[in-house]
Amino acid sequence: MPTLVIVGTQWGDEGKGKIVDVLTEKAHYVVRFQGGNNAGHTLVINQKKYILHLIPSGIFHANTICVIGNGVVVDPEVLIGEIEKLKDQGIDVSPQKLKISERAHTIMPYHRALDQAREAIANRDKIGTTGRGIGPCYEDKVGRRGFRLIDLTKPDFFKEKLKKVLEEKNFLLQNLGAEPLSFEGIYERYIQYGQYLKPYLCDTSQLLWEAYHNKASILFEGAQGTFLDIDFGTYPYVTSSNTIAGNACSGSGFGPSQIEEVLGIVKAYTTRVGEGPFPTEQKNALGELLREKGGEFGSTTGRPRRCGWLDLVMVKTAIQLNGITGLAITKLDVLSGLERLKLCTAYKLGDRILSYVPSTLDELASVEPIYEELPGWEEDLTKIKHYEELPQQTKNYLKKIEDYLKVPIHIISTGPDRENCLILKHLFP
Ligand code: GDP
Ligand code: IMO
Ligand code: MG
Repeated sequence: MPTLVIVGTQWGDEGKGKIVDVLTEKAHYVVRFQGGNNAGHTLVINQKKYILHLIPSGIFHANTICVIGNGVVVDPEVLIGEIEKLKDQGIDVSPQKLKISERAHTIMPYHRALDQAREAIANRDKIGTTGRGIGPCYEDKVGRRGFRLIDLTKPDFFKEKLKKVLEEKNFLLQNLGAEPLSFEGIYERYIQYGQYLKPYLCDTSQLLWEAYHNKASILFEGAQGTFLDIDFGTYPYVTSSNTIAGNACSGSGFGPSQIEEVLGIVKAYTTRVGEGPFPTEQKNALGELLREKGGEFGSTTGRPRRCGWLDLVMVKTAIQLNGITGLAITKLDVLSGLERLKLCTAYKLGDRILSYVPSTLDELASVEPIYEELPGWEEDLTKIKHYEELPQQTKNYLKKIEDYLKVPIHIISTGPDRENCLILKHLFP
């Protein structure tokens, strides 16, 4: 049965959650493998809107098991809040349905406090993080000072280690002008979180190994996007994990030779939240129109997203970095009504022409996008049910993208709802 990784090819918010939800109909497992509640995935099912931050976007399908892998950083308070909210809405989020890696690291209150204190001090140099403690938690994981979720179920061990770690964190917090945190306030609460989460915890790598050998179809759900990747993104304006497809393996304990397909999600234009260079950004009426029409406000922080033309140089680079075998184009409906459309097909850097995203920030900040122009279309696409019914100009826009990228488009999304979707190739037959 198929195994498929889904990744964002831009700066996040490409509509990954929606596509995961659509594909989950045929998937037995949906696995998150990196990031944390910096992610915000909005799903619209029968006109009802749901926002997920930590729970995989497959949760709305009754027969699918959702997995939070070892590579995710989990804020237990947020996760428990999300579980309870979904339960209130009548969704099954029992330990039979949601499995959480006991190896996943825990976001602690001092991670959030440090993230926010650093950003406040950085002022002009700030990254524009979501302030959720993601970076500091990954720092502690790599620094071997972190707490895995399983540690919350071992009171004595947790107590001793927390005392030591907190001493250093309070030193840092106070030197950054923030309030120190009390041991008692954290300890009691986190032991309770451990008790709540215990039935959900297991060795998810073993679970996936068994599932694979039982011929289950497994979908790995990436968070963020390729250019927020800690190595290949626009460093330092990135998130603190590898967001590219390779991390689906280390972030879940699944072998690379068992991954069959990588689906890249491409928004029909480009958006970004937070700081950092953005070659095709439109700081003008067009940017505002895309923001309003596309509802481009962050699902996690509510910040307005920066908007611009589709940058095919980025997507092409993302195809290489992720080994993308197929594409899903989202939010095509948002472009309806624009007389002319532009696609960035190369960068001009001094007297050089680049067809890939350069590795340094200075270079990326200095490139001039080279555009190809195409005629737009007037028609509303949200009611369209078949590819053949799309306006000819829309087909031309898609063909141009496909020809340039040399990777087939498998899915076209024409609206936020689950049903606004044209499937050209079924990935889970
Ligand atoms: P993710 O983080 O990649 O899952 O994306 P987000 O959920 O943060 O942002 C995508 C937004 O666009 C959400 O509000 C979706 O409901 C919405 N969306 C997804 N696909 C489409 C589409 O094809 N058309 C329109 N108009 N909205 C879409
Ligand atoms: P989804 O999964 C868009 C951005 C933040 C900031 C940078 C670092 O919804 O696509 P962090 O809090 O991760 O340390 O912030 O990364 N960022 C996202 N932007 N979508 C996301 O997730 C993001 N997750 C983080 O805005 O610029
Ligand atoms: Mg999002």
